Amino acid sequence: LLASAIALAPMAAMAADLTIGFSQIGSESGWRAAETTVTRQEAERRGIDLKFADAQQKQENQIKAIRSFIAQGVDAILIAPVVATGWDEVLEEAKDAEIPVVLLDRTVDADESLYLTAVTSDLVHEGEVAGQWLVDEMNGEECRIVELQGTTGSSPAIDRKTGFEQGIEGHDNLEIVRSQTGDFTRAQGKVVMESFLKAEGGENICALYAHNDDMAVGAIQAIKEAGLKPGEDIRIVAIDAVPDAHKAIADGEMNATIELTPNMAGPALDALEAYLADGTEPEKWIQTESRLFTADDDNMAIFNEKKDLGY
Ligand code: AHR
Repeated sequence: LLASAIALAPMAAMAADLTIGFSQIGSESGWRAAETTVTRQEAERRGIDLKFADAQQKQENQIKAIRSFIAQGVDAILIAPVVATGWDEVLEEAKDAEIPVVLLDRTVDADESLYLTAVTSDLVHEGEVAGQWLVDEMNGEECRIVELQGTTGSSPAIDRKTGFEQGIEGHDNLEIVRSQTGDFTRAQGKVVMESFLKAEGGENICALYAHNDDMAVGAIQAIKEAGLKPGEDIRIVAIDAVPDAHKAIADGEMNATIELTPNMAGPALDALEAYLADGTEPEKWIQTESRLFTADDDNMAIFNEKKDLGY
């Protein structure tokens, strides 16, 4: 009995004893900053020692951080992977060291056995919802669309593009005329939107689909500077539902956004605590909700609520 109790001891670690490494992408967007804040809060609330590493948008920095977490013998690792490919080797290393890995908000192209679970939204579905919104909004009217993609090679950029194309499929009145990365940042969203406006002529663009709100907010600035009315002359649909997007919708400068919760850490840490306590295997995919917000919602109230949460 004693021997089996000793054998079980490492599995039965209490949350307060846990040390967890978190390899975060960086802080390219308001949503990303909120995810970092929520993860720190969730860890603190549970008495977990969270070791945080900001990769400044570079996969090589993430791989270095993960190797350092492995060398330190952490109990588990959280990774928000900047791009989808190139993770096999370092995930194998974590597996060999028997350190469970949980993916946050993005997926990877690697064998499922290399990580415990992934906490993400349905990224393709988010794009579909955005496309469907535009289909309904245009109701058969011709519309030339420009698209601001997220970081090249990242799963949200790939999946949100696919999903949107699926959403507008079969609607010949809708056409994507320009599509380029804005790297999920406000600054690049503005720069790339300026180039779209210059190349197409503002009056020839009917809608903007941005893979996140930050790029949409940057683009709104570019549209205003071009003397056009965002939300009216150019309809705007994006993803994240950060407070600034709710504010822009309330101001009539943006039309729709799809919510991505910044609380990926809650479900991730629940799964890890259960796994480390008694080996409970979580589902391979813990899916978070995606909800559409439009001008029909009380966006100022939601803005205030989210701001109060420290978003
Ligand atoms: O992976 C989630 C995406 O990454 C968010 O939509 C975006 O804002 C962030 O940078």
